[in-house]
Amino acid sequence: MLSPDQTYQLLRALTSPIVAVTSAQGGDGKRNGMILDSAIRASIVPTVPRVSVYVHKFNFSHDLIFQTGRFGLHLLHTGQFDLIHRLGFFSGRDRDKLADIPHRPGTLGAPVLDDCHAHFECRIVNAMDTGSSTCFLGDVVAVGFGSATAPLGEVMTAAYFRANLPAEWRRDYERQLKAAQEFALARSRDVKPVIWPGLAR
Ligand SMILES: Cc1cc2nc3c(=O)[nH]c(=O)nc-3n(C[C@H](O)[C@H](O)[C@H](O)COP(=O)(O)O)c2cc1C
Repeated sequence: MLSPDQTYQLLRALTSPIVAVTSAQGGDGKRNGMILDSAIRASIVPTVPRVSVYVHKFNFSHDLIFQTGRFGLHLLHTGQFDLIHRLGFFSGRDRDKLADIPHRPGTLGAPVLDDCHAHFECRIVNAMDTGSSTCFLGDVVAVGFGSATAPLGEVMTAAYFRANLPAEWRRDYERQLKAAQEFALARSRDVKPVIWPGLAR
């Protein structure tokens, strides 16, 4: 019998590349970005490109994405540890994390980051509650490569991130992961049905 920790280490083999997810509310101009390792391709049909992401409810991004039904998703390259630190270690509730990060409004309104491996603009078609997070299923409506002209290196995988995370950030990363796990433990059994508004049409 495997221990819960051994099981979790095995499940880590299923984590996605490290991606940056952006969101924005039209009216008051709130915009934000966060980091995820829970994005997967959610369609095998080239003409119906889809992704899904799991976003914890304590993240500021969760509410922005839920309210607008849109998000931008960015594959990163291996040179982007600084971006991961800026977007993934602090909340946009306390600061405008995109203020110093070059970006432009995407066609759906969510910001598109200039520096990335590639970006996908997504419109949500359905959602699932997990108790502690929401799984958003998104149609990809626009896609493009990052604008960097220098060689980009490889896509930032979760394994590369964990092996090469700068030592001075590792303690904060592990502390925040533990806090997220405690949040999730307290809520994971309280799963609610979600009727995505767009499905009412
Ligand atoms: C490597 C890494 C992976 C992460 N994966 C997820 C994830 O899959 N889902 C999630 O909700 N948060 C994830 N996070 C945490 C958020 O990025 C983090 O809580 C961020 O500060 C949220 O910002 P916000 O409050 O501005 O939305 C991850 C962070 C890192 C550094």
